[in-house]
Amino acid sequence: TGMFTYDPGFTSTGSCESKITYIDGDAGVLRHRGYAIDDLAKNCDFLEVAYLLLRGELPNKAELTAFEGTMARHTMVHEQLAKFYQGFRRDAHPMAVMCGVVGALSAFYHDSTDISDPYNRMVSQHRLIAKMPTIAAWAYKYSIGQPFMYPKNDLSYAENFLYMMFATPCEDYKVSPTLARAMERILILHADHEQNASTSTVRLAGSSGANPFACIAAGIASLWGPAHGGANEAVLKMLSEIGTVDRIPEFVKKAKDKNDPFRLMGFGHRVYKNYDPRATIMAETCREVLAELGVENEPLLQVAVELERIAREDEYFIEKKLYPNVDFYSGIIFRAMGIPVSMFTCLFALARTTGWVAQWSEMIEDPHQKIGRPRQLFTGEFDKTFVALDERK
Ligand code: CMC
Repeated sequence: TGMFTYDPGFTSTGSCESKITYIDGDAGVLRHRGYAIDDLAKNCDFLEVAYLLLRGELPNKAELTAFEGTMARHTMVHEQLAKFYQGFRRDAHPMAVMCGVVGALSAFYHDSTDISDPYNRMVSQHRLIAKMPTIAAWAYKYSIGQPFMYPKNDLSYAENFLYMMFATPCEDYKVSPTLARAMERILILHADHEQNASTSTVRLAGSSGANPFACIAAGIASLWGPAHGGANEAVLKMLSEIGTVDRIPEFVKKAKDKNDPFRLMGFGHRVYKNYDPRATIMAETCREVLAELGVENEPLLQVAVELERIAREDEYFIEKKLYPNVDFYSGIIFRAMGIPVSMFTCLFALARTTGWVAQWSEMIEDPHQKIGRPRQLFTGEFDKTFVALDERK
């Protein structure tokens, strides 16, 4: 009983007020705290954008230096947590490891449970953003049986991640400025995207007053699926399966067939019905990175470009307003950087952590905030006569 709107998938339900991210899906606009994504992606480092999302304004030089210093203080993880990895099978998916390890952080920082104190909330935000590169890189190191590399705090956020991924104790790894720059940009493009499934999950989990580390672990779980952040991994698998340009029409046909569950991965978006502005910057970055690495003839890029061209001229995709999304080109860049496919979604999680913690705090600080509690349409059986166990047929 009681009146409510039935809206599965929340296609028309606003769940909160927010000042962080603005999207106009019809016009293909994305802005963070008023700044166009294009300006941020092309001119900022990731930590500048993290500061912007958390604090509401871009930092000046002194503020940025102080913020970088704060972040550097939190890059290490507890040695017990390093041991925690040993409990996983080596062939575990790194996203499974990430869910577990990030959730386990809540067992290390007892101050994080008292979320009524703004200082505690801020420190939890800093810890999460700063530790994520370490946690993600270690998930990879663990999977290949190499020793963990500890963070080097004179490196930038992206450099540090690449260093912990690729350096070994026997061989130092010189982080290429081109790759570091591209990585900063990709992280910025993934930093926040208002009330998507994983962010809504973080807010819903947090609305009960739960520990922030546990809430972010819930966000990671939601991000993992192929309809959301898992799409970057799925795109690369799809492009590899297509393999050559001549096989594209066959896959496009499959994607249009309503009796076939196959979808073109990296296409379509709940909100963007014109284009995804992140995809445009991503495609540009992809070409630049591949050219600088001297692999511009990478066959998968050719398949991607041709697939995009064919889909954009196809009635079905035009009519349903399906365009490449942020995940379409990112995987090709990651692969060219030497990042294994199973790590792609971990990178998304790493970047999105900033958005998640910014949105989590905004929710806690919102005077209208209540526990999230959707309603349901009950469609089950209602009134049955109880039968004792002995008498049931
Ligand atoms: N390929 C073929 N058909 C599609 C696709 C696609 N990628 N996406 C949507 N459609 C069709 C769908 O079959 C439906 O057709 P009909 O109206 O005839 O039933 C129509 O377009 C609308 O799709 P929907 O599933 O109702 O739309 P949605 O807003 O619920 O889903 C989406 C959005 C992103 C989940 C979906 O487009 C999709 O599954 N895309 C592929 C996965 C992907 O790339 N996800 C990444 C999203 S962006 C970044 C992120 O969040 O991680």
